[in-house]
Amino acid sequence: MKVIHDIAALRQWRRQLTGPLGFVPTMGNLHAGHLSLVRLAQQHAQHVAVSIFVNPLQFGAGEDFDRYPRTLAADIEQLESVGTGLLFAPDAATLFPIPQTCHIELPPLAQDLCGRSRPGHFRGVATIVMKLLQLLQPDMACFGKKDYQQLTLIRLMAEAFNVPIEILGGETLRADDGLALSSRNQYLSAGQREQAAQLYATLTSVAAQVQRHGLHDLTRLENEAEAALATAGWQPDYIRVRDRRLDPPQAATRDLVVLGAARLGETRLIDNLEFIVTTPG
Ligand code: PAF
Repeated sequence: MKVIHDIAALRQWRRQLTGPLGFVPTMGNLHAGHLSLVRLAQQHAQHVAVSIFVNPLQFGAGEDFDRYPRTLAADIEQLESVGTGLLFAPDAATLFPIPQTCHIELPPLAQDLCGRSRPGHFRGVATIVMKLLQLLQPDMACFGKKDYQQLTLIRLMAEAFNVPIEILGGETLRADDGLALSSRNQYLSAGQREQAAQLYATLTSVAAQVQRHGLHDLTRLENEAEAALATAGWQPDYIRVRDRRLDPPQAATRDLVVLGAARLGETRLIDNLEFIVTTPG
């Protein structure tokens, strides 16, 4: 695997490449979920590039930017083990030679769900993803479905800016008890880790209730699910059932997703579950 840290070398590498390029942007501290995105990209493109950059633009004041795990040597080993072609691992001075005063402005969805408690987060994500897409010029890019709102907004952004790229969503990988794999899981204490699968269990239960009873009483279901998490010691941020574009579902909507975010101690976890409903709303 070639490892590149600077932009001139990246552009030179890109120019000599023939055949489709797949791209997996990451913030490093890679786990099996990231590697499954690399494999997904390999199924769709002849070459695969991964980026590792802990993006300061997407962290708010008081969030975990400083303590976000940086594990480049271990990440390189993992990427090599799955046959990644290129790792682009720039530092902040390389990506921000001038202060980033231009940003991507996103539709109102960016202020909803996770955007309510993380103002500016998706603007920071979209801005860095757009920069990386300009640098890598990939034909396709893979993002994990665990960050469903991020994936939805990036799809919208790519379409709105006519970026000639296919965006693919990779399925969420889970531990045996259902907890979605995430770099932030390592912040959990042993006790919290035992409890952490409750978020996925809650989403599963909401999906099952919607499948049984339809969509007519969603707000009550969402409120009850948040209350159950709070009783179990979580600080729930939201539990919401949406259509697959993340709009509130209409009575006739069949393809749904239930999304949740909640804090366990200091650690904010997110998860979601796509499901189909057959009972009329
Ligand atoms: O999902 C992530 O790891 C990040 O939000 C991304 C897409 C790499 C942008 O920094």
